[in-house]
Amino acid sequence: MDGMDDRGRQEVRVLVFAASLREDSTNSRLARIAATALELLGATIDYATMREFDSPSYDQDVEDSEGIPAGAAELRRRLEAADAFVIASPEYNAAMPGMLKNSIDWASPFRPQPFNGRHCMLLSASPSMVGGNRGLWSLRVPLEHLGARVYPDMFSLAQAPAQLTADGQLASQEVHERLVTTLSSFLDIVEATRHYPCARKAWVEFLGEQPSPATSRAE
Ligand SMILES: Cc1cc2nc3c(=O)[nH]c(=O)nc-3n(C[C@H](O)[C@H](O)[C@H](O)COP(=O)(O)O)c2cc1C
Repeated sequence: MDGMDDRGRQEVRVLVFAASLREDSTNSRLARIAATALELLGATIDYATMREFDSPSYDQDVEDSEGIPAGAAELRRRLEAADAFVIASPEYNAAMPGMLKNSIDWASPFRPQPFNGRHCMLLSASPSMVGGNRGLWSLRVPLEHLGARVYPDMFSLAQAPAQLTADGQLASQEVHERLVTTLSSFLDIVEATRHYPCARKAWVEFLGEQPSPATSRAE
């Protein structure tokens, strides 16, 4: 079948990045592991770094006078080239890092709005026993508001420094298998939606805004 790879999967393009700027980021290491696993599962990967998307603090005066900064424009470009995206995000004070929210805010005024209708899976890594999972719940809010289809299952790596080996693998085979199984289920949904569309979701920005040709941003 046209576009189908030798594992029988239709082409699915996935943007993968970690929302940490630091060199030795545990979330970047987890994002790399996920990208490799997704590639083995038949996805085409675009691996990005947060540095490419980082932007100055949102300021509407700057938006009005200078437009949207290069980092947010790059995030939009990479999202538009993908069917789905995977973010490995640290947890800062029980929420997502401010610079990730800032990049989401800056990218959201683009039309078509680039998060709308795109599938997303969330990962986190943290030294804590909770693995940064609370931060992912906060990250779901803006992404779902913007119409991203955030996969219900999330993957949080607890005690991350000890769970990541020096050569960038997960120390536990069982944990690795759990990650691969979740990524595989996610990819199945993305592939089905990309190649066998059966449902459309209209994104409505404000409560009370009625879907109509003028307000619909489903396309
Ligand atoms: C400002 C700040 C707040 C943090 N808050 C939390 C937190 O609420 N929960 C948690 O598990 N870790 C927290 N941490 C620790 C991070 O999980 C840890 O630094 C982690 O390694 C960051 O991800 P990275 O390795 O990808 O950079 C915090 C770190 C910083 C710098």
